Amino acid sequence: MEPGNRSKHRGLSNISRKSDDVAKCYDNWASDYDETIAEWRYEAPEQVASMLMAELSPKSVILDAGCGTGLSGRALRSAGFTTVDGIDISLRSLKIAGMSGAYSTLRAMDIQRFPLPIPDDQYDGLVCVGVFTYLTDSAGTLREFSRIVRSGGIVVFTQRSDLFAKRKFQSVLKRLSDEGWIEHVRISERRPYLPYNEEYGDEILVHYVAYTVV
Ligand SMILES: C[S@@+](CC[C@H](N)C(=O)[O-])C[C@H]1O[C@@H](n2cnc3c(N)ncnc32)[C@H](O)[C@@H]1O
Repeated sequence: MEPGNRSKHRGLSNISRKSDDVAKCYDNWASDYDETIAEWRYEAPEQVASMLMAELSPKSVILDAGCGTGLSGRALRSAGFTTVDGIDISLRSLKIAGMSGAYSTLRAMDIQRFPLPIPDDQYDGLVCVGVFTYLTDSAGTLREFSRIVRSGGIVVFTQRSDLFAKRKFQSVLKRLSDEGWIEHVRISERRPYLPYNEEYGDEILVHYVAYTVV
């Protein structure tokens, strides 16, 4: 497929946030997700992994929330992390992630169903790359991430620039900070996200967000 292909995966920027719909969409896409997204020059997994490596030691235990086919786990392993767990709602994506060998454990889980079946303070770090598009309760999800990451641990996530504004992520992050869940919030400028996808291009960019769990 040529970069910027007009027919395939059209409407990607506007899909449902119902967990069942998302699971179906990503199950259907799993077999050629890696190939397609590489053609769109997706580099968020590598960016997020290097942001996390700048803050945590390689032996830290990391959760890749919404790991998909494993691009983010592979980037974390390439950055030097030795223990990476993955969760996702798409079984077909998880199967491909399993073949990558990047993950210590992989589990099917709906990130929108709180509380997640994960104990408090289980992880040193958590990444959530390309997933917040599909999550309805941004504040609730970030609170849940802060519960399962230990105090002093780091969360790094991405959000599309249009949805960052529309869903008021600045205010959400300020509220969580005021509530005492998170601190040292760092929000990147808008950067290219899927530059060779015709719907995204120069229009829909991405913010990278990192914070420390209180
Ligand atoms: C754009 S992909 C990103 C995958 C991977 N992190 C990457 O960077 O390539 C979005 C992923 O989020 C997952 N996802 C979306 N909503 C979810 C939910 N409610 N629970 C678990 N996973 C979800 C999808 O199944 C999909 O694998």
